[in-house]
Amino acid sequence: MDHTENKVIEYYKHFHSHPELSFQEFETTKKIKEILTEHHIEVLNLPLATGLVAVVGKGDRSIALRADIDALPITEETDLPYKSQHQNIMHACGHDSHTSALLGTALLLKEQEDKLQGKVLLVFQPAEEAPGGAQKIIDTKVLDPIEAIFGIHSDSTSKVGTLTIRKGPTHASVERFKLVFKGVGCHAAHPNDGVDPIIAASQFVTAAQSIVSRNVHPQHACVVSITHLEAGSTWNVIPQSALLEGTIRTFDKDTRAIAKNRLVEIAKGIAATFNLTVDFSWEIEVGNTFNDEQLASFAKTVALKDNFEVQEGQPSTGGEDFALYQEFKKGLFILFGTGKSAPAHNPKFTIDVNAIYPVSKYLANLAQDYFTTQEQA
Ligand code: NI
Repeated sequence: MDHTENKVIEYYKHFHSHPELSFQEFETTKKIKEILTEHHIEVLNLPLATGLVAVVGKGDRSIALRADIDALPITEETDLPYKSQHQNIMHACGHDSHTSALLGTALLLKEQEDKLQGKVLLVFQPAEEAPGGAQKIIDTKVLDPIEAIFGIHSDSTSKVGTLTIRKGPTHASVERFKLVFKGVGCHAAHPNDGVDPIIAASQFVTAAQSIVSRNVHPQHACVVSITHLEAGSTWNVIPQSALLEGTIRTFDKDTRAIAKNRLVEIAKGIAATFNLTVDFSWEIEVGNTFNDEQLASFAKTVALKDNFEVQEGQPSTGGEDFALYQEFKKGLFILFGTGKSAPAHNPKFTIDVNAIYPVSKYLANLAQDYFTTQEQA
């Protein structure tokens, strides 16, 4: 094991035992900064409360490599000697492995800086899970001059040494919606004296399912899930209102627009039918990721040279705010196998530490080769 690999695994264990939630990654940010500074890597002075961007190399051309750094509100249930020391916070999505892998890349690129024919921005992004962290980075405008951005994510369904590189969508768009049907409360014995919001909410739950079966093209994937329904508190009162929440997932703009429009139309239509009002709001809106074809071929070439096994994989209906970068820059989101474990977001989720350093090396090679093989955008 080489010296840098030892360090990277040590960083990983540190971050794993000290997880922090979205937008609260203060200690994590401090630690990343400490490591970078110790290795004489420049950290940019940006208005970010958590997360940071560092830079290696010089010149007119630039690309970005992105890792997310936040954890989840889950109590870890593993027996690892470096398990979470924070109650009800856990790196259960592998962002600690992304962070340490990218730190390894930073160290390697710093060592090879004289060979590097451009600038590499190392983006340690806060709050992917919230979401909202990608937007914070974008708002600093630090990425405005870059040609391309590469992101990584651990994948507990593939073995160590595997990279999933696909063209087109890898992760679905994410909408979180909330609506409140507002009726008129009354005695359950005299329903004619009020307007029952539970009837409207029930009709809405059923009708919303017709979006996937009747409105969306049969060959286009779409999920509409209503996951939260709250109304009333006892048996003999018709309540004033009913609250619903849920999510839509799609892989293309058109399907997304159809699903969103229909959901609002159905809510308003049901409100009109049952003579009550509805407040509808979109709480989260993130588009789907979309991998650039040229970048995918390039990344695959480098991966094969690095002796990775490369697979196409399947798009996931999970979301990823890396999509926000891809809305304004061409980008590639790559998954790396971390060995079979409980699924991400599970309290028993683990990763094989041997998966991390090869990714550090791969990203360093990707950055080096980008400038020598890819035309300036
Ligand atoms: Ni994640």
